[in-house]
Amino acid sequence: MPSPVIVALDFESTAEALALVESLGSNADFYKIGLQLLAQEGPEVVRILVARGKQVFLDLKLHEIPNSVAGGVAAAGKLGASMVTVHASGGSAVLTAAVKAAMPYPNLKVLALTVITSLSDSDLPELGLAPSVKQQVLRLADLAAKTGCDGVVASAQEAGYLRDFLPAEMLIVTPGIQLAESNATDQSRVATPHFAASAGASYVVIGRAIAKATDPRKAFADALSQFQMGASHG
Ligand code: C5P
Repeated sequence: MPSPVIVALDFESTAEALALVESLGSNADFYKIGLQLLAQEGPEVVRILVARGKQVFLDLKLHEIPNSVAGGVAAAGKLGASMVTVHASGGSAVLTAAVKAAMPYPNLKVLALTVITSLSDSDLPELGLAPSVKQQVLRLADLAAKTGCDGVVASAQEAGYLRDFLPAEMLIVTPGIQLAESNATDQSRVATPHFAASAGASYVVIGRAIAKATDPRKAFADALSQFQMGASHG
């Protein structure tokens, strides 16, 4: 099993990204690469990580016509990525195309993005969307499940109701995580690894809280142990 803590490599250069990977050591075996690093450096960084035995979550955030989304997913599969993201708001034809395009790559999970975490209920009317973020998230998660996606990306606050709603085998991948000061059980709604895991997250994505820590290796180890405690108490 790969680590449930996915480290986001939100950097401008491959050199900076690989420096963090090296400093984290072998326990940190799952990395997220987003559009910044991909656009700046191209896909070689993905190949390098895969060649080093790391899992790569390629956060392409695809929102396109089905044919183009299928092409993007297949490209992620060819690179050896383990996860790729598609916007569920593209609709069922797009999600179905993404799932079909991933079929030749058995290690590639298609994750559906529901509502971006920067939106709140009051932002939805101008987009012509359902009355609450929760309703919109559930509507799109339902679409993701029905079209055969492997999982969804959701905030820790959404993970709890999504875990109850989605089939058990579907993954919930949770960004927007902060590290608690200690491994103590955190009962508040702060989105710590402990909170996310106890709410039912399968993986957490952590960027700055690890990359910018004084001791990134220790921050990763803390995140992992907090997640494991949360998963066992969930
Ligand atoms: O905030 P942090 O540096 O941990 O972000 C890591 C990744 O998580 C970012 O690359 C971003 O894609 C994602 N993120 C998110 N929603 C948030 C915060 C971060 O999707 N609220």
